Amino acid sequence: MTLFAHPAEKLIVALDGMKPSQAVQFTSQLSGLRWVKVGLELFVLGGPQVVIELRDRGLRVFLDLKLHDIPATMAGACRRAASIGADLITLHACAGSKALLAARLAAVQGAEEAGIPPPTLLGVTVLTSWEPKPYAKELSMSQPINERVEGLANMVASAGLGGCVCSPLEVANLRKLHSLPFELVTPGIRPKGSPLNDQERVMSPCDAIQAGASRLVVGRPITCAVDPVEAFSQCCRELERC
Ligand code: C5P
Repeated sequence: MTLFAHPAEKLIVALDGMKPSQAVQFTSQLSGLRWVKVGLELFVLGGPQVVIELRDRGLRVFLDLKLHDIPATMAGACRRAASIGADLITLHACAGSKALLAARLAAVQGAEEAGIPPPTLLGVTVLTSWEPKPYAKELSMSQPINERVEGLANMVASAGLGGCVCSPLEVANLRKLHSLPFELVTPGIRPKGSPLNDQERVMSPCDAIQAGASRLVVGRPITCAVDPVEAFSQCCRELERC
């Protein structure tokens, strides 16, 4: 079972490494594009205006700022992000359930004040850039990463957030514990034949969806392709078949 019938609903194109004007222009090439990711780099340059511009073009925005602060500050940031029309917003689960709850309520208020539907908040569990050894040593963590991911995902669900961001390798396990409509949004996706770039543990779009991902974040296989329009269509076609 999947949450979304249309393949483009499952595909978030990450607009990394582009200036705001390039990012907006890039999206206009991809007919059928529904979702884009605005990450830290683009947001630091383009601010709320780039989110607003993308929304004005009919796109939905995954605002991946991975917020982590005290509850009042996370709530304030989520209220503002909701009011500019971000549809998916990420925050670090390890900020704690008080912060997650405050952020959720504030996001609903921000959207209500702006007269738009509330965003879905997604918890980030353990960054996949951590290797087990430095993770245990530098953070004095005795709990294995997979157990911590499960624990944080449970906290995210109990705080009423809409889902988690996770690596493709965590999807199947988290999906057993959290059924749809809890979202599992997954980067580290490589369609057949795409270069790995700096991603090491990757999955194909179809495998990730079959493992239980609700949406996929795909950047360079589309944005750096010789023919981005074809790369995007190919990814949609693959999603249609699975
Ligand atoms: O270009 P690529 O498809 O590798 O981009 C994946 C996107 O997902 C990037 O925006 C990257 O920051 C993000 N991401 C990731 N791995 C994670 C978390 C986020 O690649 N573990």
